[in-house]
Amino acid sequence: VAVSDAAGNRAGPLRVGVLGCGNVGAAFVALVDSGSDAIRGRTGIELEVTRIAVRDTARPRPGIDAASLEKRVLNDPHALVADPEVDIVVELMGGLEPARTVILEALSLQKPVISANKELLSSSVAELALAAEVAGVDLLFEASVAGAIPLVRLLGESLAGEHIVRLTGIVNGTTNYMLTRMSEEGLGYAEALAEAQLLGYAEADPTADVEGYDAAAKAAILAGIAFDADVRSVDVYREGITHIEASDIAFSHKLGYEIKLLAIAERVGRVGGGLEEDPPAVSVRVHPAMVPKEHPLASVRGSFNAVFVEGDAAGELMVYGRGAGGLPTASAVLGDVIDAAHHLREGGRARAVRLRTPDLHPIAELKGQYYLVLDVLDRPGVLASVAAVLGDHSVSIRSMEQIGLGDEARLVFITHVALEADLQATLKSLSALDSVKRLGSVLRVIGPEKA
Ligand SMILES: NC(=O)c1ccc[n+]([C@@H]2O[C@H](COP(=O)([O-])OP(=O)(O)OC[C@H]3O[C@@H](n4cnc5c(N)ncnc54)[C@H](OP(=O)(O)O)[C@@H]3O)[C@@H](O)[C@H]2O)c1
Repeated sequence: VAVSDAAGNRAGPLRVGVLGCGNVGAAFVALVDSGSDAIRGRTGIELEVTRIAVRDTARPRPGIDAASLEKRVLNDPHALVADPEVDIVVELMGGLEPARTVILEALSLQKPVISANKELLSSSVAELALAAEVAGVDLLFEASVAGAIPLVRLLGESLAGEHIVRLTGIVNGTTNYMLTRMSEEGLGYAEALAEAQLLGYAEADPTADVEGYDAAAKAAILAGIAFDADVRSVDVYREGITHIEASDIAFSHKLGYEIKLLAIAERVGRVGGGLEEDPPAVSVRVHPAMVPKEHPLASVRGSFNAVFVEGDAAGELMVYGRGAGGLPTASAVLGDVIDAAHHLREGGRARAVRLRTPDLHPIAELKGQYYLVLDVLDRPGVLASVAAVLGDHSVSIRSMEQIGLGDEARLVFITHVALEADLQATLKSLSALDSVKRLGSVLRVIGPEKA
């Protein structure tokens, strides 16, 4: 029987309703079931999972004993949210609907919501954050980016006063695993993908990972928190790793680089722009890049994630850890639930996300260095004509390697800093040359020249 304390708070444990009991949901329920005494000992917060919504109520759930599951399980997420035995809602179903609707229902009932749903948050965070603001309760989503790594909290709280200049992250464990295997074992793309699928790192349909959609959703969420900007995944420039060849990896090693799929969110300087531009001028993008071996991100191996943060006052810092997996993600969810529980008990809220419509700069306006590969006819004058095309578009060559391939030659260039639009125009002109047989990979290069 619920009893209220003097402040009107209900005595006893805070009751958590969990929407979804898959990889993350089952791990979360098991963490709370087995750890509630320890959680109370450390935080003073008593938690109890009282309801669990799934599609198939008959299915056993790993780590949750059948009798206790049966008492709590139901198949109607709307009913779970409305249940008076639920104080805090944890959304671990994934997908856009019904997740969005049930989160809005929970917030309208002034129930705090914790979600790990990157797909939903990267398309609707402004709407959900506003609903939380109106209701005066928390909407927390640490687990939606980089699993167990406390990145949302780092950016939104520890670095709340920091003028963040740039975030550069490895936020997709599947592609980082594949690129690591290609780099360390010389595997081709197809072999690396088959291995990742065998180990359960990649889905049968790997599109979301290998084409960069997953990383783009996370980049949008991170940019939102770092720059108080309403960035959605559709706004993020995106390229995946499907075109990376074993020869690119071999070349990158020779030149002192590792190839990584990076999510980059950065402020873009504007003439006359002050410290806090309004709207914030930003670029958010996901693409593979050559990272110098001495950069901390180059040594992030396997399925690990890491994000390198650059701030005006804080300088450079990096967080590293498990970016996915049921248990690491459940750990981040639990941290948010404990925060929300503290706020319910003691009052207060997490810092509200202020989302302004950003001035998003297209990639064509950015400057960078590039790696490009051309297969050309091995004839006198060809190199001069290629160099002329580059020069005509103001793209200057920093280094070049030539490898004989019978009647053809492979030219591998690293450019000096150039405008992306000029580089794209260069590629168009190069592909029109009769002597150019194939345009190979084009990769952006991180440092050392300043853009
Ligand atoms: N897995 C990770 O490593 C990871 C990492 C970071 C973030 N996330 C995010 O965490 C969320 C959950 O991921 P997951 O891997 O745990 O997914 P999952 O294994 O597919 O689990 C989804 C769960 O939601 C339930 N569900 C789906 N639609 C439902 C509906 N309409 N009504 C009731 N229940 C419904 C499913 O029920 P049934 O079991 O009965 O089908 C299942 O239990 C996603 O947003 C994902 O992006 C996952």
